[in-house]
Amino acid sequence: MNLLINVDHVATLRNARAESFPDPVHAAARCEHAGADGIVFHLREDRRHITERDVRLLRETVTGKLDFELSTAPDVVAICCDVAPDLATLVPERREEITTEGGLDVPANAERLEAVVPQLYDAGVAQVSLFVDPVPAHIRAARAAGANAVELHTGDYANARTADARAAELERLAAAAAVAHDEGLRVHAGHGLDYRNIAAFCDAVPHVHEVSIGFAIMARAILVGLDTAVRDMAARLRTA
Ligand code: PXP
Repeated sequence: MNLLINVDHVATLRNARAESFPDPVHAAARCEHAGADGIVFHLREDRRHITERDVRLLRETVTGKLDFELSTAPDVVAICCDVAPDLATLVPERREEITTEGGLDVPANAERLEAVVPQLYDAGVAQVSLFVDPVPAHIRAARAAGANAVELHTGDYANARTADARAAELERLAAAAAVAHDEGLRVHAGHGLDYRNIAAFCDAVPHVHEVSIGFAIMARAILVGLDTAVRDMAARLRTA
């Protein structure tokens, strides 16, 4: 299972002081040197963390897989098309949210998604993924909208507070991964995955090509350093 690391939180820290550091572009390079298979960023409509300058430099400097998370807002879609990352992941976005709160309601947004997905392929983006809750109808709708991958939202698993609730969420994720696989979709996963919950996730959920992890790694990096934080997570995935 491959590890893609989200560097948004480095930009959040930089922007908190309106400074030029810490630089998410430097952090991305460190992550790759320490064993990350790729880098993720979310260019939000309000540009609250990652900026267009970051996007352009990450496109030039990231040597592994580059995952551009975006909403379907036309100006952000245009930037994504211009940058042509390896992977574009479409996510829901609400201005008031602290972080992405759940998967896309694919059936309800089918018309807009069906318009945006082909634009991304035409621009040279090889993989287009929709961030979805582990709901079979939404996964099938993702394929119908033209996506060739889905990222399963693992937030409910991460937030489950009892062993029974965690087991139930893992079952939902495993069933959803099987549906996605049967539909011919690549399976990605992310949100709330951390050093404690990743092993059970890897054991229980089949077909997952890659996970996207941000907060847990950056939070640990503040205490132990980025190299150690990345290596610790990569080791958990490699031995899974
Ligand atoms: N995947 C998606 C689609 C996300 O929006 C996020 C949060 O930015 C992540 C993965 C990473 O979540 P976390 O920061 O909790 O690891």
